Amino acid sequence: MSISYNSEKKIFKLDTSGSTYAFQVFDENYLIHLYYGAKIPDDNLASMYYHGGFASFSPSNEKVETEGFSPDMCPMEYSCEGAGDFRVSALAILNSDGNNVTDVRYTGHKIYNGKPEIKGLPSLYLNSESEAQTLEVYTIDSTTGAKVTLIYTVFENYSAITRSVIVENTSEKTLDIERVYSCCVEFPQMNYNMMHLYGKWYKERSLQVRHLAHGIQSIVSKRGSSSHYHNPFVALADDKATEDFGEVYGFNLVYSSNFSAEIEVDSSNSTRLIMGINPESFGWHLEKDEKFYSPEVVMVYSNEGIGGMSRTFHDLYRNNLIRGYWKNKKRPILINSWEACYFDFDDDKIVSFAERAKEMGIEMLVMDDGWFGERNDDTSSLGDWFVNEKKLKGGLGSLIDRVRALGLKFGIWYEPEMISPESKLYKEHPDWCVHVPNRDKSIARQQYVLDMSRKDVRDNIFDQIYGLLSKYPVDYLKWDFNRNITEAGSALLPPERQKEFFHRFILGTYELMGRITAAFPEMLLENCSGGGGRFDPGMLSFSPQIWCSDNTDPIERLTIQFGSSMCYPDLCMGAHVSACQRTGIDTRANVALWGTFGYELDPNKMSDEDKEAVKSQIHNYHKFYDVIHNGDLYRIISPFENHYRAVWQFVSKDKNKALLTSVVMRRPETQAFFVRLKGLDPLKYYKDEDNGEVYSGALLMNAGLNLTDTDCSDGSSFIKYFTAQ
Ligand code: GLA
Repeated sequence: MSISYNSEKKIFKLDTSGSTYAFQVFDENYLIHLYYGAKIPDDNLASMYYHGGFASFSPSNEKVETEGFSPDMCPMEYSCEGAGDFRVSALAILNSDGNNVTDVRYTGHKIYNGKPEIKGLPSLYLNSESEAQTLEVYTIDSTTGAKVTLIYTVFENYSAITRSVIVENTSEKTLDIERVYSCCVEFPQMNYNMMHLYGKWYKERSLQVRHLAHGIQSIVSKRGSSSHYHNPFVALADDKATEDFGEVYGFNLVYSSNFSAEIEVDSSNSTRLIMGINPESFGWHLEKDEKFYSPEVVMVYSNEGIGGMSRTFHDLYRNNLIRGYWKNKKRPILINSWEACYFDFDDDKIVSFAERAKEMGIEMLVMDDGWFGERNDDTSSLGDWFVNEKKLKGGLGSLIDRVRALGLKFGIWYEPEMISPESKLYKEHPDWCVHVPNRDKSIARQQYVLDMSRKDVRDNIFDQIYGLLSKYPVDYLKWDFNRNITEAGSALLPPERQKEFFHRFILGTYELMGRITAAFPEMLLENCSGGGGRFDPGMLSFSPQIWCSDNTDPIERLTIQFGSSMCYPDLCMGAHVSACQRTGIDTRANVALWGTFGYELDPNKMSDEDKEAVKSQIHNYHKFYDVIHNGDLYRIISPFENHYRAVWQFVSKDKNKALLTSVVMRRPETQAFFVRLKGLDPLKYYKDEDNGEVYSGALLMNAGLNLTDTDCSDGSSFIKYFTAQ
């Protein structure tokens, strides 16, 4: 049993193979957090509630008899607004008296095998009921009748716990949720580095590491997507932890819209972390008996450093987040038309790409933006999802037939949530785009956003997509989202519900995406948002892969892929070899091998030499697929710490195969270059498949490989493959 409740001590203990999380039902039914960290066998933790305090300025509750209690000083399991806790609060509900004092207390709980779904929202799933146990803790704010359920699912094999919250109005009056975070976690010290992934278009998910300081530090999105700017991932790493050693706590929100992670260090040097929907531009109106479901946060504990945390996320997401037909299937190597020709193509050009691609061993042709309406640049036609027969003479059916006759699969691009002012759809339904009355609508990339909170809008887009895809065999769909949401509001919502818009929008998107994937279960979906602007676990639960970034320069890709790998597994990272000239084609391929692997260049313009190189890269893709995509990732030299080289390694689960990749970003100053491998079996002997040399795992991990004589010119790279003897 991974979840236990000691009814005498009133202590809940949530145990995974490597971690323990504990909290207590305290006097007056307050829920007090006790511990989160490495696994401990017992629950003698009751004294953990006390963090000091000062009578005058640490408010208490007269009914509590235990000394030293203050909601402001004690570690609260789910912090509430306005009732004695002045730190960041996870929950604030405006009641019909007009105040937002909120105070939930324990009323009961339930423990069971399995994991509940979250209504309308993506979440981790189980392959069998025995894979995880769930604890539902019931609480009530007795003054307002807000019933708040805290849900914890414990993945015993992964050192992972998911958390979410349900708020239900059990009173006769209305309630308005102002903030409802998915988790609140307390730590009795502040000696942590906060790690998170910041960025922008073309430079997503750079790693930022900063020491916690007193006060509040936070990352947020209010763009209507998880965004290029901050990923919904944050970790707290013991300030002595490294890539390979020490304690690290990772948090990732399964959500694709406005999020917030706030970390507050208080005057007693205690740390509180809350993560969930960004309360700015959020509100939710609850009538009697209505419920609100928060998204889920995934919490991972590692005492094997940052790398250990990443590997847990990777395994968990491969097994319990990514789903459907393609979950365990080898993905086809694709060639995408975008960087090769942008909007300038016709059926013959696409077919010529397919012909050349086939000769090199590529398996799927993806026709990107520009095939519909009157779309010859980005000024028009989003929303008009019918084929432009001036470009595709003979229509889509004929093009697909020609591509398939070559033995290739066929994929297509859509941007379902968008509308161009220059479109038939906009002329017919100008009120369907996101807008508020009496204000200019901001334009971005010449387009507006469709109001996905409306069912009529979603139905129209679904019918258009379904109408086309049900006629023709389409193997792959790239779902794009190329701007953020401004002037957020819906023409259909009453004023008291306008603040629900952002959340309703993403619920609508999820519903539409769910309908499309259900209608075409074998079609491979790849999400995209101007590159990696919606690279989050919410999207990953619908599409097993997401385009990482519009930046396909292999050197720039290193930080993007290293950053993404903090919590996202290899086989979800959309990565292509492009025509970028900064390095030779082999380095471009060595970097793209880390991800889904594909091409994004004009094959008619390639030299014979490059075409030959592609054949051997494709051979490598097949040869290394298993070790990369089913193995463990070890980051060896990070481009965030070293300006010269980046080195990473994959090891198969049985430790019989290992693949080492090294890229020179800039010629290093010193020549000596030793690499100590990681994750091997010290007792096994491994053959370097390049030169036949055999070394023990112990040697490779301790003495390392002397790679001093490898090419160290700018942009050079190599891969090395080891097999156990
Ligand atoms: C976004 C995507 C690109 C491409 C274009 C098409 O920018 O990231 O890969 O699909 O849209 O307009």
